[in-house]
Amino acid sequence: MDSLAGLIGSRRVLVCIGTGGVGKTTISAALGVAAAEQGRRALVLTVDPARRLANALGLATLDEHVRRIEPATFAAEGCTVAAPLDAAMLDVKRMFDRVVDRHSPSAAVRDRILAHPFYRQASTALAGSQEYMAMERLFEAATSGDHDLVVLDTPPAEHALDFLESPNRLVDLFDSPAFRILVARASTRGRASAFRPGSLVMRGLSRFTSGEMFSSLLEFFSDMSATFDGFVERAQQVSALLHGPDTAFVIVAACEAGSARRALALHRHLTGDGYPVGALVLNRVAPYAAIRSDLEPAIEDARTLLRREAKQHRERHKGLAHAWATSAHHLSQIAAQDADVVASCRAGFGAAARVALVPRLADEPDSLRSLADVARFLTSAGTS
Ligand SMILES: Nc1ncnc2c1ncn2[C@@H]1O[C@H](COP(=O)(O)OP(=O)(O)OP(=O)(O)O)[C@@H](O)[C@H]1O
Ligand SMILES: [Mg+2]
Repeated sequence: MDSLAGLIGSRRVLVCIGTGGVGKTTISAALGVAAAEQGRRALVLTVDPARRLANALGLATLDEHVRRIEPATFAAEGCTVAAPLDAAMLDVKRMFDRVVDRHSPSAAVRDRILAHPFYRQASTALAGSQEYMAMERLFEAATSGDHDLVVLDTPPAEHALDFLESPNRLVDLFDSPAFRILVARASTRGRASAFRPGSLVMRGLSRFTSGEMFSSLLEFFSDMSATFDGFVERAQQVSALLHGPDTAFVIVAACEAGSARRALALHRHLTGDGYPVGALVLNRVAPYAAIRSDLEPAIEDARTLLRREAKQHRERHKGLAHAWATSAHHLSQIAAQDADVVASCRAGFGAAARVALVPRLADEPDSLRSLADVARFLTSAGTS
């Protein structure tokens, strides 16, 4: 069985995946910290623009540029690492919306363009290209030799699956008849008189867009078609990397029955598609089990108190002891439910995957120190 420390030490790519808000970004950052502790040069690629993460990493900003967190920065927070940690944000905003924004003379024109069916169709088809760029970026980072490990933080699961499939979707788009017709028009500039400036078509189009912008879209299609073979080859390489032995998927879930069910469904989906799932992280586990073991003797004491019904302060003691015993009993029940969730996850994920439990910290992980705490739970021998 591979431990999470083992995954961090041996893989080139870790993909954190899970439904919304379960802690993917936090766990990705903590995996990066754990890698730095092991002396691996790691890069955390996050999709999360939250400033909180940049702050937790001790960075003023986090954008598409790679930012380095030096060992000295860790040391200032009392953490010891053997390698620096790099982080960057993946910008998955639609490239075309940005182009439109730039070219539009006014907000009204921009809104008209954004609502136009042609634009909506083209930009939706090409939305995957931006996700594809993210996968391309992941591939480059994983193969450039600059880093030993790349941790990819993904958007909530439904979108993450889109993300993973984006190389294939782009290939499908290139193969579609509509795309080929458009490209043929764009590339045979001499014959594409319909798209010449001042032509009837362009005058018609200019009602909702500038001819310049439409030409630049066509040019883009044309440019893309020229790199078609390269894209197909690269899509295959990305897919091979994500399915190969250098990659492990880390599914993140909350420790409750619904979230665990969704994590198991995601596990089935990913393994069905041949992606290697290496671990499940049950995050924000309430430390009920520990509380229960502390409380069990207290519950007994409370019962004894109730039985004795001390004459002095009898009513007060009775009330307190009763409240104590009741809440301890409730906690105990919840702890048992959590234990069931953990047990069902262990059974569902099978012996090949590791299950790590990360407790809910008293404060949100907002510093390198707290990310190092999370990292400790991810790699501790207590997980199995
Ligand atoms: N173990 C923990 N203890 C306490 N708070 C936590 C823990 N893990 C995550 N959080 C907090 O929970 C919130 C959600 O975490 P995070 O942003 O990492 O989730 P996410 O899965 O990346 O969300 P999204 O799907 O929106 O990208 C954040 O406020 C984070 O600080
Ligand atoms: Mg996130």
